[in-house]
Amino acid sequence: METLYLKSEEKGAVETAAEILKNGGIVAIPTETVYGLAADAYNADAVKKVFEAKGRPQDNPMIVHVSSYEEINPLVEKIDPRLPALAEKFWPGPLTVIMKKSALVPDVVSAGLETVAIRMPSHQTARDIIALAGVPLAAPSANASGRPSPTRAEHVKTDLDGKIDALVDGGFCSVGVESTVVTLATEPPTLLRPGGITPEQLCEVLGEISISHAVFEKLNEGEKVQSPGMKYKHYAPTEQVSIIKGSFDKYKEFLLAQTDTVCAVCFEGEGKYFEKYIEYGRADSSETQGQMLFDALRKVDETGCKRAFVRCPSSDGVGLAVYNRLLRSAAFRVIDLDFEIPVIGLTGQTGSGKTTVGKELEKQGFYIIDTDILARKAVESPEVIGALCNEFGNDIIVDGKLDRRETARRAFATKEGKEALNAITHPEITRLTVEEIHKAEKNGAKAAVIDAALLFESCMTALCSKTVSVIADEKIRLERIMKRDNISPEDALLRMNAQPSAEYYREKADIVIENNEGFLSSLEMSKIV
Ligand code: TXA
Ligand code: MG
Repeated sequence: METLYLKSEEKGAVETAAEILKNGGIVAIPTETVYGLAADAYNADAVKKVFEAKGRPQDNPMIVHVSSYEEINPLVEKIDPRLPALAEKFWPGPLTVIMKKSALVPDVVSAGLETVAIRMPSHQTARDIIALAGVPLAAPSANASGRPSPTRAEHVKTDLDGKIDALVDGGFCSVGVESTVVTLATEPPTLLRPGGITPEQLCEVLGEISISHAVFEKLNEGEKVQSPGMKYKHYAPTEQVSIIKGSFDKYKEFLLAQTDTVCAVCFEGEGKYFEKYIEYGRADSSETQGQMLFDALRKVDETGCKRAFVRCPSSDGVGLAVYNRLLRSAAFRVIDLDFEIPVIGLTGQTGSGKTTVGKELEKQGFYIIDTDILARKAVESPEVIGALCNEFGNDIIVDGKLDRRETARRAFATKEGKEALNAITHPEITRLTVEEIHKAEKNGAKAAVIDAALLFESCMTALCSKTVSVIADEKIRLERIMKRDNISPEDALLRMNAQPSAEYYREKADIVIENNEGFLSSLEMSKIV
């Protein structure tokens, strides 16, 4: 199908769009929140076409858009007594209200639920099209299912060109995140999706409201939800997104320490420090963040980076909507770099007694994070396993479990393989390490210690307030390794020579522990404690 492109200000555009809708066609229209893909809400066949064009799951209901209050009556069983006050205050505008539906609303619109979601947009073009079409319009956001919602006509074109009858270009959307969704079908009313109207504003009219836990948290497997849209992966660019909490300084240090080129998704004026970046609004303005967010997420793909790190927005006011959408685009991956305790990076040459130093620190109230253990845990994550299968073949899964030995064999066969393995597993190991640091905080530890053989080769140094290298004389290390691993002097030497020199460890660390005695001297330990 050929998509007809119309500009909202052009003569006849609104009339043409309305005519197509009246005749059962589907048209992408601008609203103040995001572009919607509209169909006559009373025409089940037209609505079905919207599901198809978007690739939207059939169990996800749509919002019905009206241009006047009178259009609501036939859509609902009865007007909820709280609606007039809500409408008075927030309509037309970015609020969607859910009530018991009437029999006139086709089941495809409500996806079989007994309720219907209604919104009166404030965008003049949207209102004109609805009024001229003479019917309420069912319209989800006009993106391909799972992609960020469209806030510019070209976003719609990218996702739906050739799949819809027409697109009305009305410029960029002033709110930029979808409407606030509140249901009056529960007591008290429940906020299902935060948006341009804040929870505080809703409370002023409704008194008490509850906030669905799906606003902040990942739903449990198979959990029944009030708003089906919440359960799907959403707003996601093709590449992996993580949210970074903490100051800009921490953010910067962490991003610059990454070994691959990553995309910084940050606030205005912050991008200049990074090779690849996209700015999304001002640090102190949730409104501008909302306007830019989806456009920014779409641009991540264009940078060619495999990973994007987004500066965490404030979750106050409209910020709650920005944060909620980001959580979903990041599949709830949040890395909080605000640590309340010191974080010490511990490394050293093989046979130097790094583990002994760790044990000593543990005795003194330090929390030890063994990155070898985390490396094993990282390959249990379904996302990591998926990426490993893509890289090394699906047959690395045997009896439903990852064959670690075979994976390692394939990965270490080539330099590229090894790099690919690291690129897949290191981000997850880092994320788990940060989680462990917060666990240490909760446990009341004096400090967290990241025990990592490759500390200086990883981005972990950016997490550390101090780094410690443990070194020892070559002869002593040789003896220790032979004894520890029961191997020949030749094999022990082979391992020692595979590592950088003592000088390297000396130069890179803040503190150097010389561990040549049979026991760890308290003088050496006092450098850390
Ligand atoms: O700002 C917006 O709301 C935009 C513009 C186009 O108006 N529309 C939009 O629609 O975001 P959509 O379909 O992408 O999101 C609608 C959300 C979904 O999460 C859906 O599950 C929920 O509203 N929803 C719709 N009807 C519902 C109902 N009867 N009960 C519970 N949730 C409902
Ligand atoms: Mg949507």
